[in-house]
Amino acid sequence: MKKIVVLSGAGISAESGISTFRDAGGLWENHRIEEVATYEAWERDHELVLKFYNQRRKQLLEVKPNAGHYSLVKLEEKFDVQIITQNVDDLHERAGSKNVLHLHGELRKVRSTADPNLVYKLDSWELNKGDLCEKGSQLRPHIVWFGEAVPMIVPAAKISSEADIFIVVGTSMLVYPAAGLIDYVPVKSPKYLVDPNAREIRHISNLTVIPEKAGTGLVKLVDELLAN
Ligand code: OAD
Repeated sequence: MKKIVVLSGAGISAESGISTFRDAGGLWENHRIEEVATYEAWERDHELVLKFYNQRRKQLLEVKPNAGHYSLVKLEEKFDVQIITQNVDDLHERAGSKNVLHLHGELRKVRSTADPNLVYKLDSWELNKGDLCEKGSQLRPHIVWFGEAVPMIVPAAKISSEADIFIVVGTSMLVYPAAGLIDYVPVKSPKYLVDPNAREIRHISNLTVIPEKAGTGLVKLVDELLAN
């Protein structure tokens, strides 16, 4: 079975009603990123950061996967599909995709501030000041904030290096190290970029740009790949 690796970003969840990061004048859900998504922000104000991620988690209860997410599930009929997502939502999993690697963490999980290996699934949408891990330290969102290491980049690079086909969907390709994953893909492997505002991403060989939304462009691409 051929291996298809998909690198997804905020754009694939846009048609589900989740905001992308760079489309609202630099604001993300009315906040500047450095106010809510950095370690400094967390040190400055636990409550503001917890409240922000509580809102994101609550929003997850109201949204559903869209045609773009479902098309990637369909792709599993004929291909070994591995998704590498920068998204912290769980819409790929809820659509039914089997192999999803989260590069930037997961909204539905929290972790200890004393021991990063203590990661828990959160049952409700709410995490509050005073919610502690089993070692007695404050729990924090299981999110990779700006300036923090991206531990999953190592397995993601290996997966990308094994891609027979590589699909990039809904990401501005501006945030590293995620944007550098395409450089690990073998030169001969076809690469596709689905994004209505796709800009040229450096010189990448064998790249086809599909300047459409995921709900149309990705769905068409999947149908073509399944038909061939
Ligand atoms: P961005 O907001 O930077 O880019 C979203 C991309 O999706 C843009 O290129 C849009 O043109 C495109 N887009 C919008 N609607 C779309 C649709 N319906 N179908 C397909 N594409 C669409 O989001 P990311 O690239 O995901 O990191 O951002 C990367 C990282 O920066 C995020 O994971 C997050 C952020 O700050 C962390 O939180 C660590």
